[in-house]
Amino acid sequence: KASPRIRKVFASLITHLHDFARENEITVDEWMAGVEMINEAGRMSDDRRNEGQLVCDVLGLESLVDEITYKLATDAADEPTTTAILGPFWRKDAPRREMGETTVTGIENGDHTFMHGTVTDYLTGKPIEGAELDVWHTAPNGLYEQQDPDQVDMNLRGRFTTGKDGKYNFYCLRPTSYPIPYDGPAGKILQLLDRHPMRPAHIHFIVSAPGYKPIVTQIFDRRDKHITDDAVFAVKESLIVDFLPRKGDPKADFELPYNFKMATY
Ligand code: DHB
Ligand code: FE
Repeated sequence: KASPRIRKVFASLITHLHDFARENEITVDEWMAGVEMINEAGRMSDDRRNEGQLVCDVLGLESLVDEITYKLATDAADEPTTTAILGPFWRKDAPRREMGETTVTGIENGDHTFMHGTVTDYLTGKPIEGAELDVWHTAPNGLYEQQDPDQVDMNLRGRFTTGKDGKYNFYCLRPTSYPIPYDGPAGKILQLLDRHPMRPAHIHFIVSAPGYKPIVTQIFDRRDKHITDDAVFAVKESLIVDFLPRKGDPKADFELPYNFKMATY
């Protein structure tokens, strides 16, 4: 239904699309190639694959919209935790897990990591009880569970809830850098532009708590060689982390301390 916002946004979209076609003297063949790409993205997509989002991501659009939407988070140390794109691999209803549990089932060869920290109110510094961390990451083969027939359903995902002290801890894997799926239109765009499909190693989070603005974000491994060169432009300085060696824990070789800071509405 028409609203002032819809009218304004569509008028602007049409203006920019027409200007784009005029400026570049887009031909019928070129336009049809674009239409075919959109149709192909649609045909490839289902609940395991979101090619439309991937296409937007290689064009930098999700990253830009993230920045516009959450511009209050300015990537400064005294601000709430900076946001980053959701990406196409989040799934709702990840299993709830107890503190100290692992996200990992059936993967022996990974770099098991103990991640821990506190969720606080960024203004008062007080710990937030009952904050939920929804976590997801890839296996050492670079695949999320829904891309990989060899993983159990909902592997490498979990929802953890902080206690009174705002603290959380769990085991996961130190992630690996990996190519975004490039067998479709998003990959085609990368090829046409001589760009690589690699994302630096990262772990995804949605942190939510009653009364606080949810934080959609990712943290990135400083040692990854693609850290300055993310195919979907999501890296921000304050989200780069250091994995530390962990001694005396048979369950993990690495340790990752990270605190989340939330803002009220
Ligand atoms: C994209 C984001 C991810 O987090 C990921 O793992 C793969 C692709 C993306 O934005 O396209
Ligand atoms: Fe990802």
